[in-house]
Amino acid sequence: MGNEVPTAAIEFRNVHKAFGEKQVLCGVDLEVRAGKTTVILGSSGCGKSVLVGMLVGLLRPDRGAVWLEGQDVATFERDDQWHPIWLRTGFLFQGAALFDSMTVAGNVAFPLRQHTRLPEAEIRSRVEEILSWIEMEGAADKMPSELSGGMQKRVGLARTIALEPRVVIYDEPTTGLDPLTSDTISELIRRLQGERQVTSIVVTHDVRCAFRVADRMAMIDDGRILVAGEREEIRHTEVPKLRSFLYG
Ligand SMILES: Nc1ncnc2c1ncn2[C@@H]1O[C@H](COP(=O)(O)OP(=O)(O)OP(=O)(O)O)[C@@H](O)[C@H]1O
Ligand SMILES: [Mg+2]
Repeated sequence: MGNEVPTAAIEFRNVHKAFGEKQVLCGVDLEVRAGKTTVILGSSGCGKSVLVGMLVGLLRPDRGAVWLEGQDVATFERDDQWHPIWLRTGFLFQGAALFDSMTVAGNVAFPLRQHTRLPEAEIRSRVEEILSWIEMEGAADKMPSELSGGMQKRVGLARTIALEPRVVIYDEPTTGLDPLTSDTISELIRRLQGERQVTSIVVTHDVRCAFRVADRMAMIDDGRILVAGEREEIRHTEVPKLRSFLYG
């Protein structure tokens, strides 16, 4: 494995990242397969958000390669190199803040208005379609403050997928939600992958959500991938740190 383009949709190779004296990532190697959902687990502060942030240019590795659909984005130097990536990569941020002063429909339409030249009628019909997909048809004209936490997350998800991305990254999609509401989010993530074959990365410490959405799982520990494997291999892992993370 030298510098050749990987066959996986996403591949982190020997990724290092420090902030001042603090070495957060020190040699992450991870493959993410096309059309599958890979869950990244790890304790708070281990560098999950830092790692996935590299896929959309929030951060740049100090060393290593970050391959995304055939390009090493760690070599990018200008915003115009990122534009095509931003168009086909959805990122649901930890917290998933909506625009408070915009309606639900306005929030979902935002990326379409920003990044496409679709006529207004077409934007409206796409927004309707997405809202019905998340089962929130009736909420188009509501303001975010009128919605429950779970509904806000669903609208955040709708906004993330408005441009029909091929890759979707979810950073803690269920944090702060009760188990039932969290299940509806897991279900949407699963459906999106099943219906549109998107390549997904789900960062989470919600073990229940992890097992519901994952095809594969990987755990970050001490700046590296401690274990990666198929969901069922992970479920039956013998690795003590992973076992205690999963089962307390
Ligand atoms: N821009 C930054 N400047 C300085 N330190 C940072 C920056 N971003 C992240 N860090 C540090 O890097 C470490 C990893 O942060 P990161 O947000 O990736 O953790 P995480 O695994 O996502 O945790 P959580 O589960 O709590 O979201 C933390 O110690 C954090 O303080
Ligand atoms: Mg995080």
